[in-house]
Amino acid sequence: MIKIAPSILSADFCRLEEDIQKVSSADWLHVDVMDGMFVPNISIGVPVVQSIRQHTNMFLDTHLMIEKPGRYVKAFADAGADLLTIHLEADMPPAIRAALREMDSLGVKKGIALRPITAAEAVIPYLKEGLDLILVMTVEPGFGGQSFMADMLPKLTAIRGYIEQYCPGCHLEVDGGINPETAKLCVQAGADVLVAGSAIYNAPDIPAAIEALRS
Ligand code: DX5
Ligand code: ZN
Repeated sequence: MIKIAPSILSADFCRLEEDIQKVSSADWLHVDVMDGMFVPNISIGVPVVQSIRQHTNMFLDTHLMIEKPGRYVKAFADAGADLLTIHLEADMPPAIRAALREMDSLGVKKGIALRPITAAEAVIPYLKEGLDLILVMTVEPGFGGQSFMADMLPKLTAIRGYIEQYCPGCHLEVDGGINPETAKLCVQAGADVLVAGSAIYNAPDIPAAIEALRS
């Protein structure tokens, strides 16, 4: 079963509640947190997640594009995030492990994300210890509206294989440049959660755009 996760990075932040209601036929809500260090952009933070939580029951799929993400695991969990995804490139492995353990102890689902440069094999040690999600970036993180990197497809296939081997049940999510055409390629390569910002929010008919990604 494919899940669609609209990215509110493409929403109108002055009309955030309305824009979240518009995507209520989707499965998850993708929340992009950026610190201006890990990526060259600043988006939203803890207080916004807290407010979103008060206005929707959607599953909050929170993508932390921040340096040393362990510093903020508790704050985002307390704010109401359902899943926290941290980048492998954002800290040293022991700190990444500690952050994932903290997610466990706080009862929040845990994910790791890979920039395009990071090899598929990097996920293996973490998968062996248990994960809820792996996010493969199909653009350089930081901005919406970029073009899909088709050379990430073999990485998806490889990671799908590792998931089946080491941690069946772990989701495989893609983020960046997803539209109905690229969605199909990603699903064929093994993805089961599709993030989309501009393909959903720039569409004239949002529910139809969400359904188009499922087929
Ligand atoms: C980019 C973010 C994405 C972004 C995707 O760094 O992680 O979630 O919103 O936007 P589109 O779907 O427009 O590529
Ligand atoms: Zn994202």
